[in-house]
Amino acid sequence: MASDFRLFMTQLLKRPHQVVALAPSSEGLAREMAARVDPAAGPVIELGAGTGKITRAILDRGLPPEQLHSIEMNPVFCDRLRTAFPGLNVYQISAGDVGSLPVEDAQAVISGLPLLSMPVALQRAILTGTVTKVRPGGDYVQFTYGPKPPVTPVIREELGLSWDVSHKIWWNMPPARVYRFRQATAEASAAS
Ligand SMILES: C[S@@+](CC[C@H](N)C(=O)[O-])C[C@H]1O[C@@H](n2cnc3c(N)ncnc32)[C@H](O)[C@@H]1O
Repeated sequence: MASDFRLFMTQLLKRPHQVVALAPSSEGLAREMAARVDPAAGPVIELGAGTGKITRAILDRGLPPEQLHSIEMNPVFCDRLRTAFPGLNVYQISAGDVGSLPVEDAQAVISGLPLLSMPVALQRAILTGTVTKVRPGGDYVQFTYGPKPPVTPVIREELGLSWDVSHKIWWNMPPARVYRFRQATAEASAAS
């Protein structure tokens, strides 16, 4: 069986517009993406799982694989995920269809997607679907290599998203930051 790195590189050459990364996420970046997963707090949805670097970091937090729902549109990556992570729920669909997943009240949606390189309509479908699946106060977690938040101002405003951002993770190719977006809860809105 090809290594995860080799599989990733082969698919990058075949589908550069879908993979859109120089390499899989580093362990440091994957750990930061999964850092706030609570193994006892219910389901997590993952978008763009690839060869499973972030998937593994989420499961290493102690979340049972049956509680993790991973969307990946590339069939070769889906096969790898099913083999590597028994019990994981793998959906070979577009992340734009996240709103149709049979999952409610997720604690977080964790995305390894190349969000900003996607058409705006697809970005909007992903974020709109996410807010229907995540519980109030739950996070949409997204890394980015660039200097700006990876959800555009228009979509942030439409959905009322605030965010916090991690330190820069230098040990990644290229270095990246992790953003956590969330909608204001009714209590937070009442208090402000
Ligand atoms: C930058 S790679 C990240 C892979 C992995 N999460 C990691 O961090 O190493 C982006 C992944 O998103 C997947 N992807 C791209 N567009 C997608 C879409 N519309 N729906 C689902 N997956 C998508 C690609 O196939 C690829 O596996």
